[in-house]
Amino acid sequence: MKFFVDTADVQAIAELNDLGMVDGVTTNPSLILKSGRNIVEVTREICALVSGPVSAEVVALKSPDMIAEGRKLADIAPNIVVKVPLTWDGLKTCKVLSKDGIKVNVTLCFSANQALIAAKAGATFISPFIGRLDDINMDGLELISDIRIIYDNYEYPTEILAASVRSANHVSQCALIGADVVTAPPAVIKALASHPLTDRGLEQFMADWAKTGQKIL
Ligand code: G3P
Repeated sequence: MKFFVDTADVQAIAELNDLGMVDGVTTNPSLILKSGRNIVEVTREICALVSGPVSAEVVALKSPDMIAEGRKLADIAPNIVVKVPLTWDGLKTCKVLSKDGIKVNVTLCFSANQALIAAKAGATFISPFIGRLDDINMDGLELISDIRIIYDNYEYPTEILAASVRSANHVSQCALIGADVVTAPPAVIKALASHPLTDRGLEQFMADWAKTGQKIL
């Protein structure tokens, strides 16, 4: 499973990238706001750092403007993926840009039917938002599972990019279901390495090692 980092924080991306943990990056208008940076400048920096796909989102709502914004974003670097919302205009934009060879990530997906129609429109990635479904007492992981079955039934090449990932449990469940990609904030990626028994075991080893009076170096 591929790991994308869901942030526009260049330092956080660089830290994980050094460990080989970053297969790509996703951003959105809220993450750009959080970064306090200019969208073109920060996206260019991220693309120079990471060789995998970097999603940058359009903000227009009508397809002609979305297409123009998408082309401008795609010009930033060869690894840009243009992110469009799952609206009718977004799907039209997806179709046009995909035909031109520009990769498109269709975002804000909350149903299996939305994922199906995005695949028909030629999306490279579909981004179902797990956490936001959980927030309204629905099952985000069940949606990932449904999309996996539908895409496999018809061999759609669209990759399932699980988004709005809030916990380490979301990541392992997505891996079990067979999501192609998980995009998660840096803190969630770091949390994958944590286990209380690891901490307790290490504490015991350190205590016993001190009693040996030995040194390795
Ligand atoms: O990838 C989408 C993500 O940024 C949204 O996450 O936690 O705001 O639902 P969240």
